[in-house]
Amino acid sequence: MSTSSAAPTLHASTWDVECIRADFPTLNQQVHGHPLAYLDNGATTQKPQVVIDTLTRYYQNDNANVHRGVHLLAERATRDYEAAREQVRRFINAASTREIIFVRGTTEAINLVASSFGQRLQAGDEIILTAMEHHANIVPWQLLRERTGVVLRFIPITPQGELELERLPELFNARTRLLACTHVSNALGTINPVEAIIAQAKAYNVPVLLDGAQATPHLRVDVQALDCDFYCFSGHKVFGPTGIGVLYGRETLLESMPPYQGGGDMIRTVSLEKSTFAGLPYKFEAGTPNIGGVIGLGAALAYVMALDGEAVERYEQQLLAYATARLQEVPGLSIIGQAANKVSLVAFVMEDVHPHDLGTILDHEGLAVRGGHHCAMPIMSYYGVPATTRASMAFYNRPDEIDRLFEGLLKARKLLS
Ligand SMILES: Cc1ncc(COP(=O)(O)O)c(C=O)c1O
Repeated sequence: MSTSSAAPTLHASTWDVECIRADFPTLNQQVHGHPLAYLDNGATTQKPQVVIDTLTRYYQNDNANVHRGVHLLAERATRDYEAAREQVRRFINAASTREIIFVRGTTEAINLVASSFGQRLQAGDEIILTAMEHHANIVPWQLLRERTGVVLRFIPITPQGELELERLPELFNARTRLLACTHVSNALGTINPVEAIIAQAKAYNVPVLLDGAQATPHLRVDVQALDCDFYCFSGHKVFGPTGIGVLYGRETLLESMPPYQGGGDMIRTVSLEKSTFAGLPYKFEAGTPNIGGVIGLGAALAYVMALDGEAVERYEQQLLAYATARLQEVPGLSIIGQAANKVSLVAFVMEDVHPHDLGTILDHEGLAVRGGHHCAMPIMSYYGVPATTRASMAFYNRPDEIDRLFEGLLKARKLLS
C-alpha cells in the first residue's frame, strides 16, 4: 500500500473542530469517568486514523526491508519509504530529497549534527545557543565541548520569555562556527524571530540549526524561505508515530560532513581495509531504518498538509487567547512565558501548589496536562521555580476543555492550599 493511497480527510477552511476530532480515535474516551481533555500536545500529539491505518496496512501487506530485495514486497516498502521522504521534502519545502535524513527524532538529529559537523571543530571554536533550549539542544553541545574544547555562548532571555536579541551581535566573533536555536520554546510557547536571527548569522557567515520540534505542529515551515542550514523535528509531535524524526540539512553542508554512524546501507564499497560511503541521504542512514515509522510519518504530514494552515493558526491563536484569559482568572496563578508571539501553549505555577500534585488532581478530572521541568531546567532556574504545569493545545482542542481546566484548577486550589 502506498502512502498516497491513504487519502487524508479534507476539511473546509472554516474550522470544524468536531469534524477534525472524529479523525482522532484516542480523543474519544473516558478517563476516570470524565471525557478525556488531552492538553499535553507539547509532549506528544494524538494520531489521526489515517496514520494508524497506514501503519497497520504496512505491517499487514508490505513489510520488508528497504533498498535490498528485488522481490515485490521489498519494492513496495522501498517505494513507500522514498515516497514519504518526498512528502517530508514538500512539508518543509526543501530543495531536494537528498537533504532529508531520517533519524529517531529531534534529539538524534541534533546529536548527528553535533557529532558529524562537530568533528571539524577545534578547541576555542564557538557555538551560540540560547537560554531557552530544550535539553536536546544543550547536552549534545556540552558533550562536544568535553570532546573538543569548543566554547558555548548563550543568548539570554527576558522575563517575558523572549530572546534578548540586542545581545546577539556581541556573541558573534571570528571563531563562531554555528548558531543553534529553538524555533518555538516547549516550556514557554515563544515563537522566536528566527528570520532575524538567521539574517544576523548570515552576516557573519555562520550556519544556523533550528530545533523545530515544537514549531512543526503549529506553523508552516519553509526551509528555503528561512534560509536555515539545518532543521530538526520529531514525527510524534506532528501527529505521526514515535521513533521517527527528520534532519534537514543544506546539501552542500551535508556533503562536506562525515558519516554519523557506520553500518549497512550507508556504504558504497567495503573491504577489510577500508570503506567508501553512499551518497546523500543514505550516507547518514546506517542500518535498517524505522520503515513503518517513516511511512506513517508520510501519512501524518499528508494529513496536516491537507488542512487549511491559516485556519489552523487562527483557531489555535483563539484557543491561546481564551486559555490565557481564563487562567489569569485563577487566584494565585502566574503564567510563565508571556511573549508577544506564542503558539497555543500556556505554562503556569500556582501559589503553594506543586505541579505534580496539580497534575494528579487534574488527571482525576480527565484533564491530561504536563507538570515538571519540561526538559528545560535552565528556564526553570531563570524563573526560580522547580517546575511548571503546562497546558499545550492542538487544533483538535476545544474551548470547553479550557473551561474544564479552569474548574479543575479552582478545585485543586481548594484541596491543596
Ligand atoms: C523544543 C524541543 N526540542 C527537542 C525535543 C526532543 O524531541 P524528541 O524527544 O522527540 O527527540 C523536544 C521534545 O519535547 C522539544 O520540545
